[in-house]
Amino acid sequence: MKNKRIFITGATGFVGAHITKHLIEQGANVTVLIERCDSSSYFSICGLDKKVNIYYGDISDGTLIEQIIVEQKIEVIFHLAAVALQDLAYKMPKVTFQVNIVGTYNVLDAARLHTDTVEAVLVASSDKVYGDSDVLPYNENMVLQGSNPYDVSKVCQDMLARSFYHSYGLPVVVGRFGNIYGPGDNNFNRLVPGTVQKLENGESPLLRYPANGIFKRDFLYIKDIVNAYMYMLNNINKEGVVGNAFNFGTGIATDIETVVNKIKSIMKCEDIPSVVQKSNVSEILVQQLDATKAFERLGWKAEYSLDKGLEETIDWYRNVYFKLG
Ligand SMILES: NC(=O)c1ccc[n+]([C@@H]2O[C@H](COP(=O)([O-])OP(=O)(O)OC[C@H]3O[C@@H](n4cnc5c(N)ncnc54)[C@H](O)[C@@H]3O)[C@@H](O)[C@H]2O)c1
Repeated sequence: MKNKRIFITGATGFVGAHITKHLIEQGANVTVLIERCDSSSYFSICGLDKKVNIYYGDISDGTLIEQIIVEQKIEVIFHLAAVALQDLAYKMPKVTFQVNIVGTYNVLDAARLHTDTVEAVLVASSDKVYGDSDVLPYNENMVLQGSNPYDVSKVCQDMLARSFYHSYGLPVVVGRFGNIYGPGDNNFNRLVPGTVQKLENGESPLLRYPANGIFKRDFLYIKDIVNAYMYMLNNINKEGVVGNAFNFGTGIATDIETVVNKIKSIMKCEDIPSVVQKSNVSEILVQQLDATKAFERLGWKAEYSLDKGLEETIDWYRNVYFKLG
């Protein structure tokens, strides 16, 4: 990674900040596009703004994306910028499709025009692309049948990305990730950060229940995700990697009540009851990923158990985030 010229979109977000930090530590020359950045973001807390080349603007601006690639002689692109929350996407479908689909198109098309420097484009997709399925765990051969605005935007993004390999030979790899948690997620309406914050304040955590059961998700720790990106990049020249999508998950579907109870136990807040809320947004009931392909072709597998990941996460919120004041 030493001096590798890297462009990261979505670097100020939860996952993007961890990738940015890791790449800087590896000696890469990192350029980021910033649409917004809070002082309480992991990106700011880690002081990453002082260690990268910054362009301010929106992923919808294709001219700017191309300018960045040309001016910075970009070799590798990590594309993570997105409207990444289900409920936000549900409320703002037009913005979601604009950012997640057109934004992805802008990155891919600018990269296609500059393969003199660009060697790899890694695109952040999601297990949401598979939608509700009777067959679990999901594998990469399944039909993509996401059906609400966020899920559909990720289906389009995922297909667009792979089409640029098949049509233009652009060296793209797509990662389909389960539910990511870890230090630095400021999206407090997500289960893990939301529960930790409520319990820290002595308040009841929320359990959102759909009409037909309980949500189960494949929870993945952020360090396993950073590794997943590095495995995709380091193996891009291996047969069966470029132009492919890979599932990244633990293979375990954990229900949200179990996650909340584990957090209560680590935080020693078992006496605080949870509040059950009816979910009115249509969401997939159970998600579970088969990551065999990632293991066989990339050598990746999840290393962190949910308990270990949650312990590290809670430790960070308590000893760093909640002390920011
Ligand atoms: N967090 C998860 O559990 C998870 C799971 C699977 C896939 N993903 C995908 O991973 C990626 C990162 O997710 P995250 O959790 O870090 O999300 P996040 O919401 O924390 O970060 C999103 C980033 O995108 C940027 N962004 C949003 N709109 C933009 C625009 N118009 N122009 C430029 N930048 C814009 C934001 O500023 C932020 O930096 C997303 O593509 C998401 O769909 C996330």
